[in-house]
Amino acid sequence: MPRQFFVGGNFKMNPATQEQKRALVKTLNDADIDPAVEVVIAPPSIYLLALKDTLRKDIQVAAQNCYCKPTGAFTGEISPAQLVDAGVPYVILGHSERRTLFHESSELVAQKTKAALDAGLAVILCVGETLEEREQGRTAQVVEAQLQPVVQVVGEKDWSKIVVAYEPVWAIGTGKVATSAQAQEAHDNIRRFLAKAVSPAVAESTRIIYGGSVTAANCKELATQPDVDGFLVGGASLKPEFIQIINAKR
Ligand code: G3P
Repeated sequence: MPRQFFVGGNFKMNPATQEQKRALVKTLNDADIDPAVEVVIAPPSIYLLALKDTLRKDIQVAAQNCYCKPTGAFTGEISPAQLVDAGVPYVILGHSERRTLFHESSELVAQKTKAALDAGLAVILCVGETLEEREQGRTAQVVEAQLQPVVQVVGEKDWSKIVVAYEPVWAIGTGKVATSAQAQEAHDNIRRFLAKAVSPAVAESTRIIYGGSVTAANCKELATQPDVDGFLVGGASLKPEFIQIINAKR
């Protein structure tokens, strides 16, 4: 069965004002988007519910993070159960900025992933190597080490609710997009790893999306790769060109 193309917009800590947020929602609500594409928008949590209530119903929303407990004394955190209760269907976990700036280990990301899935959320699970790791020829090893703790704690059936986002750290926010060959190789390695570590069926059905300096100019070529099932877009998701990225397969 073909994998449904998936495009996520990770707004990160943007936009700065509610007026700018409303403008982004209007651009999305007015857009002609390919109905075959699953589109998910991840605004800052402060905007999440208002955006969900004003956004067209064929675009879903995601939180950019959550904790691994249902409730409790965890100042500043948001629980998976609260997101589900609020009608938020997706959460991004393991983003490289969470791993580097906020020191999240792959073990913590795995705990969060299990807690999110157990609560009923779908997960966009981010992995990716640094430039140094790539130059050392360790891309596959690093990405597999990031995935392995998740493999150990989630069941085979849970993978239907996971979208894997390969985001090479050296391409995030730099304008240095991976070549199609680099993306395809990394995605193929991830699919081969899933086939061995989980099952061939999960490997075949799991969407593996690319993130890192995706733009309207490079998305069509990247989308031609057999194992690129979509994108997780940062900076360009805040611009009108995001619609062209959503429609990359048209
Ligand atoms: O999560 C997507 C993000 O990390 C990619 O950022 O700005 O390179 O598209 P950007």
